[in-house]
Formats: sequence, C-alpha cells, structure tokens
Amino acid sequence: MKEISISQPDDFHLHLRDGPALASVLVDSARQFARAIVMPNLEPPVVTVEQALGYRQRIMDCLPEGSSFEPLMTIYLTDNTRPDEIRRLYENEYVHAVKYYPAGVTTNAEQGVTNIDKVYATLEAMAESGVPLLLHGEVNDADVDIFDREQVFIEKILTPLMERFKDLRIVFEHITTEQAVQFVKQGPATLAATITPQHLLYNRNALFENGIRPHYYCLPVLKREAHRQALVAAAVSGHAQFFLGTDSAPHARHAKENACGCAGIYSAHAAIELYAEVFEQAGSLDQLEKFASFNGADFYGLARNKRKITLQQQAWLIPDSLAFGESEIIPLKAGETCRWKLVADGN
Ligand code: NCD
Ligand code: ZN
Repeated sequence: MKEISISQPDDFHLHLRDGPALASVLVDSARQFARAIVMPNLEPPVVTVEQALGYRQRIMDCLPEGSSFEPLMTIYLTDNTRPDEIRRLYENEYVHAVKYYPAGVTTNAEQGVTNIDKVYATLEAMAESGVPLLLHGEVNDADVDIFDREQVFIEKILTPLMERFKDLRIVFEHITTEQAVQFVKQGPATLAATITPQHLLYNRNALFENGIRPHYYCLPVLKREAHRQALVAAAVSGHAQFFLGTDSAPHARHAKENACGCAGIYSAHAAIELYAEVFEQAGSLDQLEKFASFNGADFYGLARNKRKITLQQQAWLIPDSLAFGESEIIPLKAGETCRWKLVADGN
C-alpha cells in the first residue's frame, strides 16, 4: 500500500468559532495539525490581545487530553486599532498576527476596515516590529463583479500598500486566481499566500452542478478552471511563498441551506487527506511536505515540527454530516470517497 510520512503540518488559516461549535470542530484540526493560525472573526470580533488570550484559553480548555495542538492567535483590525495594541501583540508569545477584513467583505467582517488610510499608523507599527498582516484580499464594492474582487484588490489596495510599507510582512489569504499567484511569485520574500483545499479541488461549476450547491459556497468564491490549475501549479511547485491554510469555516447546515446562505466551507475533518489527493493527482506528492509543513512555519519564523504523520492510500467514506453544537455541519466532500487516510497522527 502506498504510504507517505511527512513532518506534522500546520494550518495557517482556520476558523474555530466559539462555545459548543468550538468543542465540536477543534478535535478535527488537533488530530491533523500541530498548530493553526486562528481567525478572530467571532461575534463580537477579537480586537485586542487581551481578548485573544481569553479566546486562546477557551480553545485550550476544549482540547482533548494529551493533545499538543497549539492555537496561534490573531487580532482583528478595525478603524480603531491603535499602534499600542501592536506593541502588546509583539511582546506576547501567543498572538502572532493581525487580520485585515475590508468592512463587510465576508462572514463577521462588519467591523473591518472602512478605509485603509485610517490604519496607517498601526500598519507602520506592524512594519517596524515585523508583525504579519493577514489579508482577506477582496474589495467589497457593489460595482465590482464578485469574480473580479481579488484582482481589483491587488490593483487598488495591495500594490499601493506594499509600495508604502516596504517592510510589512503580508499573507495574502486564500488566494483564488492566476493573477494572485503571479503577483505573489513576483513579490518580495515578505509576501506569501495561503491556498485552501476547495480552491485546489474545484472550480465554480461545482456551485451550480444540477442546481445550486450551498456547501461549495465560500469567500472568495470558487473561480474558473484556469485559475484552479494555476493554484495547483503554485502549491505543488514547492515555492516558499505558498503554504497551507484551509480556511475551514463551519456554519450550521440550516445557515448554509438558506435563502441567504452563509459563506464558508468545512474541511477540517479531512484537510490533509484532501490536500494529499491534490498533490497526488498532480504527480507531486513529494512536494506536499514543503507546502503543508515547512513553508508556512518558515514564513512565520516558527520552528518546523519534529513529529511525523503518516498518510496511506486507502479509500474511506466521508460522513454525510457531522455534529456541530446543537446542530450539524455538512463537511466538504460529504458522502464521497477520500483516497488518502491519516493513519498515524502527530500525537
Ligand atoms: C469565513 C467564515 O465563515 O468565517 N467564510 C469563508 O467563506 N471563507 C470568513 C472568511 O474567511 O472569509
Ligand atoms: Zn477565513
């Protein structure tokens, strides 16, 4: 049986939610990943280091006995985030980055930044101290087509931002287009990007196959096949500026299967296995470790994980649904077969 062992991976973009939902989903990530960058878009959002530490404690309290999973906390940038908060973050070992959502761009982004000029002083403090800025890289303009929002973000926001703050460390999160791939490749080493399993596995046809498919809806939305292919090529290239970030974003089934369904796809149940499928299909399983376990840790200045995990080529059935607090979630590829199975985890 075909088998691979790699250093334990990290997830550099994860939504763990809070309360009973957190308790339901955390085990999935903790089983596969050593560490994860935890998104701050709770309700209300995590805007201070103190709140991030409180949230971290709730995550630690939910971890199964004996787990060594480490949540890497982030704070949510608002028009009112002051440079002082960046200093507090820099001095704290548990909080690692600041997340920028253009106001209203996605789930719980209402308190995001309304105009980037408003946070210049804070960005300056980040550039000086080397604290990474994690970008939801889409504009939220009603007059920009939803499929063009990433590309317009590169032109209107990201390019001028990088001109102005040359030392700012930036992670362009969950990239979805060929333009983003090219931009990151040509960018300085201070710029990197995460790529999700859904954007590697599917194109936008998945959203409309024989009817509307809310469980394939996330933001940024799935794009054309040519973009998917560019993302796969970037992920399997081994290029140091591309790494794993699932953007696993659980929503209760009723909130997805709704006249106004929420954006977000749950992938934590089988994340590393799904990435393995992508790398295998591209004939590049030997590059999986760089993408999943090395490049992100190197970018964030974290030690590479010493433990190993083992994946076997073994078909298993992904459940139709999973518990989610009082409700349920429909996981990515629900009811379908996964070709790789995690047989020995890092714990
Ligand atoms: C995320 C969520 O549900 O929190 N949704 C998503 O579609 N990716 C928010 C985000 O990262 O955009
Ligand atoms: Zn996200």
